[in-house]
Amino acid sequence: MTPSKQPPPPAAARAPHTLNQGWPLLGCISLMLLLLAAAVLLMQPDVDGLRRVIRLTARSSFVLFVLAFSASALARRWPGAWTRWQLRNRRYLGLGFAVSHAIHLAAIVGFAQADSVAFHQASGLANVIAGGIAYVFIALMSATSSDGARRWLGAARWARLHTVGSHYLWVTFMISFGMRIPKGPGYALPVLVLLAVMALRLWPARRHARAA
Ligand code: HEM
Repeated sequence: MTPSKQPPPPAAARAPHTLNQGWPLLGCISLMLLLLAAAVLLMQPDVDGLRRVIRLTARSSFVLFVLAFSASALARRWPGAWTRWQLRNRRYLGLGFAVSHAIHLAAIVGFAQADSVAFHQASGLANVIAGGIAYVFIALMSATSSDGARRWLGAARWARLHTVGSHYLWVTFMISFGMRIPKGPGYALPVLVLLAVMALRLWPARRHARAA
């Protein structure tokens, strides 16, 4: 393939290397999450500390997931500097979500080992199975988050994997936050954000479908 026929590199790769995009962005996100988790465990080196890390990373994962999941819909509806940044860095925000959830998993394993009774009270078998499937999707989506893997898989199969996986994660977040609403009304906020993001993604698609 001649250089002129090669597809242009992703915008984040073309842009100058600053900390707020591309791999440096992912590095910053990962470092911040690791430092935060370490700080929590240093201040509270027990089961409660591990549970705090689980909650903290569930929330950081949520923010990163929403940024990646909403990127193309937001850029389509409200093109601008912020939404262009979000779309350009969707891959790195998605990988940041995977790092955040890897810490979630590490803290879960720590919690299960430190206090298996409390762990089984907090997380039933159905949760573990549904969460385990989510982790399989996260691993597959992360492993295929490169241009090379996308070419190897083929655009249609890649899109199917990432669409099914991200929607499964959306449902998992809905259930995980939704079932905690009785514990505190604050849990309704992420549920509303998830509904808004889904509405935003579906809205133009429905309009085009009607127009067709
Ligand atoms: C095998 C897989 C998983 C297990 C065993 C698990 C376990 C847990 C546990 C025990 C908690 C409660 C911590 C506490 O309050 O002390 C928790 C919280 C949570 N998890 Fe996970 N989790 C798993 C996977 C996931 C996945 C895949 C997601 C989302 C995609 C997720 C999202 C959440 C959320 C949103 C919370 C609530 C955090 C909060 O209270 O703000 N979890 N998880």
